[in-house]
This record gives sequence, structure tokens and C-alpha cells, in this order.
Amino acid sequence: MPTWNKESLRRLVQREMGEYRLIVVSNRQPYIHEIIEGELRYAVPSGGVTTALDPIMQECGGTWVAYGGGKGDWYAVDDKNRIMVPPDDPAYTLRLVWLTEEEEQGYYDGFSNAALWPLCHNAYTEPVFNLDDWETYKSVNREFAKQVLDEIGGQPAAVFTQDYHLAMLPRLIREADPDIITGQFWHIPWPNPEIFRICPWQDELLDGLLGNDMLGFHIGDHCNNFLDTVSRTLKSRVDHEYSRINYKDELTVVRPFPISVDFERINQDAQGQYVDEEMDRLTDELNLGGKVVGLGIDRIDYTKGIPHRFRAMGRFLEKFPEYIGKVVLVQAGVISRIQVDAYQQLSAQIEELLEEINGKFGRDGWQPIIYMPTDLPDLTLMALRRMARFCVVSSLHDGMNLVAKEYVASRFDEDGVLILSPFTGAALELTDALIVNPYAIEQFADAIHQAVEMPQEERRWRMVQMREIVRENNIYKWAALMVEDLMQGARRSRRPVRTR
Ligand code: G6P
Repeated sequence: MPTWNKESLRRLVQREMGEYRLIVVSNRQPYIHEIIEGELRYAVPSGGVTTALDPIMQECGGTWVAYGGGKGDWYAVDDKNRIMVPPDDPAYTLRLVWLTEEEEQGYYDGFSNAALWPLCHNAYTEPVFNLDDWETYKSVNREFAKQVLDEIGGQPAAVFTQDYHLAMLPRLIREADPDIITGQFWHIPWPNPEIFRICPWQDELLDGLLGNDMLGFHIGDHCNNFLDTVSRTLKSRVDHEYSRINYKDELTVVRPFPISVDFERINQDAQGQYVDEEMDRLTDELNLGGKVVGLGIDRIDYTKGIPHRFRAMGRFLEKFPEYIGKVVLVQAGVISRIQVDAYQQLSAQIEELLEEINGKFGRDGWQPIIYMPTDLPDLTLMALRRMARFCVVSSLHDGMNLVAKEYVASRFDEDGVLILSPFTGAALELTDALIVNPYAIEQFADAIHQAVEMPQEERRWRMVQMREIVRENNIYKWAALMVEDLMQGARRSRRPVRTR
């Protein structure tokens, strides 16, 4: 089977979709407009969803419906709230949904990120279930449904919903127009039923999600957790063998699709002409000359195990003091969801640990951890990946983790060591990483030591294996398998799909 690429995906989409329009719906928009010094400028927000789906939409066209969260968005769109994107090289339509500040708080900060996010991640942060947030979440889902239906205008369409912000949307769409094909990808883990049942509105959430013809998760374990949750909660028939659910006389197939990155593009970008210059600049600016560089790139989130990583770095220097002054961990990442209490607490915890560890080991202009919690340009992140002898992904729980795959795709030189948590979806594929439990500080410190001392030949063969896997299981394959399953499944199952 040849490796999936843009062209083969485009052919598959044309064949499978026929006259059906592809509508992607997500909370986060792929392009955001801000007004900077009186000028309208756009940026690409970070995060797994937009990273994964933008290249696909650029190839396949269609419409992406998302919340317009930028201060300049309103000025960028036409009177139908639409804009062609990417703004410099238009390929598909972006349609924005407007929310008030209160709506954003209740639906995004509140129910999505203070309730569902901790509920679905085993990171021991207690979910906050607030009735007003839940009501707002439902009304915002209704608003999204209204806009999606208006966009479709009664034509044949397949709606591909993203993530945990829009769990109620598929049911609303199906109730309004049963001919619309509905699929959803849940970009975060799904917990086991024992955990999920603490949610006071579990029946309604499941009912919303079962408005989908197809529901995708990253890995089989999350699919099984979902099937178990439904069979314990709703009056339904759950077929574990074929991984499908019969509920209200309708079928939902539940499938694993491990998300990935655009391997070829990253591989090319890593060889771009300005990357070497940027590496030189960073070496000077951060005083990295002659040092072994370790790297973390994360949204600053309590699921990512950043404090665990910092503690492991401290323990590594305690156990192997010969590396004091010689190894640096550069921690990059964007501050995220700062309105939510748990994220504010995390920021304070990180600052405290930095002070403690850098205070204890730092000397002569050298610090063991350099923390850069700003939105760094892509070029800088690429240069850091190229410079890093090792990259650390220490999530306490993570659906997939694309940082790990981006690091591997960047290393065209076949060098570099990936230290990877077993609690990421990526650990099932990248088995040549140094897999280490972030809670086990001794093993974690030893893994850093192993990464620092690993001979070049071993680094090379591990990296070669991992690159083959990411090259093969790329983002186009993820999209292709899902579109195929969605369209063929819908044809086979509940409705006579309109003929072309
Ligand atoms: C991570 C999650 C996604 C989420 C994204 C953006 O990548 O896996 O599920 O959509 O973060 O989060 P944000 O709150 O910044 O939109």
C-alpha cells in the first residue's frame, strides 16, 4: 500500500464525497485575526486540531465553521461571516460563529475546560460541574448547529465535528435534517465508565454523541471505554465485536484513528534555508554553545507533566553531577486557558519549581532549565527541534501528542532521542522512544541520562524506525481512513443516502 499523500487523499475525498459538501466544525478557528498597531493581521493558533485539519482542508476544500475569537475577525469576514483561507493563498471557506464573553466563559472555560477536560484526562484534577456552564454549553452547541444548518442550506452534506466542545451538535444536526451524514473525532482520551459516571449530565452528553454515524478516538482503549460507558449508561445495544452501537434504532460506529502530522512538509521545513541561521541565533542568545540541549514544547497544561519533567531534570543533576553546566532543558510553550483556576495554579507551581531547581544548580551564566512560555514563531520551534539532542514528552495522560511526532518528522538528520510517556497515544506507535513513566522520578532521571549518553548509532536506528512509522501513518492517512469509514458506513447503515 503506497504512503498516503495530498493527492491520494484528494482523489479519495472526491470519490467518496461525490456531491456531498464537507463541513468541518470546531471550537478553535484555523486562522485568527487581530488588530496590531491599527493593522489587521492574521495568525495560526497552536493546538492539535488546527494543526491536523488545516492541511486537509487546503487539499479538499469545503467549509470550516468555528468560533471567531480574534479581535480583528469581525473586520475580516464578509456579510455572511465568511472568509476564504489561508488568507494568502485561499483554498477553503472559514465561517465564523460569534459568542458573547459570558457564552465563551460558560461554554469554553467552564464546561469544556473545567469539566470535560479534567473528566477525560487522568491527571487528578477534579472536574467542576456547574449548572450554568452546562446550560451555556448546550445553548452554544445550538448556536453552532444553527450556523451549520444555514451553511448547508438543505444540500447534501457531511458534517465532521471536532472535539469535546461540541458533543451536543451531532444530535441537533440529525434532528434538523436526518439526511446529513455526521461524524466526529474526539481529540482527547475517553475515560472508563467509573470515571465518566461522575458527570451529572452523562446521559445527555452520550445522547448528543450518538447522533453521529461515526465516532473516532485516537486509540482502541478509548473506543472500548466509550462502548463500555454507553452500555452501562443508556438503553442501547453495544456490539463489541464490530465496535458499533445501536441506540434509538440508529447505528454509530466507533473506531480508532491515530492522528498524525504532515510528515513530508515538516521534513522539508526542517531543511529550510533559515533554520540553520535561527539555530545559530538561539545558540548565542541562550548560551547553548557546547551544551547538550533537551527540549519540551507544550501548551502549558496540567496534563503535560511539566512539573514532573522539571523535577526529573533536578534529580538527573543530583544523580549525575558531572552534567552540571553541560545539559540544558529548554521548555517552550504557549500559556493556555488562563481563566481556569487549575491553569493559574499550574503556572504558579512551574514558577516555584524553576526558582528551586535553577537556584539550586545554576551557576556562571548557566541554568539547567530555560523557560520560554511565549508563542514562539514556527521557525524558532523548528530550530529548537533540530538542536535538541533529546525531546521530552511527559504527559500524565494525552490522547495522542503531536509534539512527539513533530520532533521525529523534523529530524531528517536521523539523530535525536525521544523520551515519551506511556500515557500518550503516541507511545503505541513510537516504540523506539525511551518510554518512561513521568511519575517515576528515578526512572525519568535515568532516561534523561540514557538520552544524554546514548551513542550516535543507537540514536540513529531508533530515529530511523520512528520516522518510518510517522511517514507511513501520516495525517493524510488519518483523514483518508476516516472519510472512507464515515461515508461508507453511512451508506451501509441507517438511511438511504441520496444518490449522486
Ligand atoms: C489540544 C487538545 C485538543 C484541543 C487543543 C486546543 O491539542 O488535544 O483537543 O482542541 O488542545 O485547545 P484550545 O483550548 O487552545 O483550543
